[in-house]
Amino acid sequence: MVFPEYRSRRLRRTAALRALVRETRLSAEQLVYPLFIVPGTKVRQEVPSMPGVFRLSVDRLAAEAETLLKLGISAVILFGIPEKKDGAGSGAHAKDGIVQRGIRELKKRTPQLTVITDVCLCEYTDHGHCGFLVNNEVDNDATLEILAQTALSHARAGADMVAPSDMMDGRVAEIRGMLDENGFEMVPIMSYAVKYASAFYGPFRDAAESTPQFGDRRGYQMDPANVREALREATLDTEEGADILMVKPALAYLDIIARLREEFDLPIAAYQVSGEYAMIKAAAANGWIDGERAMEESLLAIRRAGADIIITYFAKEMARLLHKQ
Ligand code: PBG
Repeated sequence: MVFPEYRSRRLRRTAALRALVRETRLSAEQLVYPLFIVPGTKVRQEVPSMPGVFRLSVDRLAAEAETLLKLGISAVILFGIPEKKDGAGSGAHAKDGIVQRGIRELKKRTPQLTVITDVCLCEYTDHGHCGFLVNNEVDNDATLEILAQTALSHARAGADMVAPSDMMDGRVAEIRGMLDENGFEMVPIMSYAVKYASAFYGPFRDAAESTPQFGDRRGYQMDPANVREALREATLDTEEGADILMVKPALAYLDIIARLREEFDLPIAAYQVSGEYAMIKAAAANGWIDGERAMEESLLAIRRAGADIIITYFAKEMARLLHKQ
């Protein structure tokens, strides 16, 4: 045989051949679209640092949901911006809170849409931290009860799944217990098991008005330097009853996604966060990269690393591209 024996380029020659041997694929069903719900009516307000992402009032949710379903996207994750904030984040579990109203509207108008809710207090506290403060520090155990009440109020409003993102220790067990005691044993928990204290959340905090008023979140979110700690977090959440483990952010943490994929058999979700979206959008707007290709490549990389589910602000755009391909 003449050198070279194996020519890798044989299977790269045509688009059809490349598609035939492609190892990783994207589909709209794996994507979850985040929605920001704001007070008022007829609000559809673009987030300046996230072009193409809109904050919507409750009455505008159904139209958005229909668009998503038409594109083949079957799940959303809800964030709420309440009218009033207070020290204890009580708006998070108010029966008529912004997210609770959003859930009821969506489950009424588009019942086939899977409604996941972010369970956290930072959008609801006047200090912007993810829990209850004692002596200017987030008190873990005092926060657990409020989080569990929040998850319960979401389930009561009809949420299909809850996703705690606060990073308090023991919250998955607390939420599981609360849901089970109240007849919601079939509502799954997607735990933000491995959530890093990341600079990539900047645009989200503008959209959700949840920037901490003092200090930062390093006392409860994870140190970006750590991987063994990620495995411990994932183990704890699995033992506490999590149904899905999430890694967040995504692109800078592909090694973490891959490790979790190897070591755990629960479904893995990855959150391609606001800063990841904003970077691609900003560079594309400047003509510095091809935004569409960068979007697809980043989402493929997250899947290749091992994520089953991707939460992404690109969900609609990616689904449209998939329909074209
Ligand atoms: C709430 C929460 C945050 C994000 C999701 N849930 C913000 C934070 O932890 O500061 C970030 C999502 C994004 O950046 O897209 N705690």
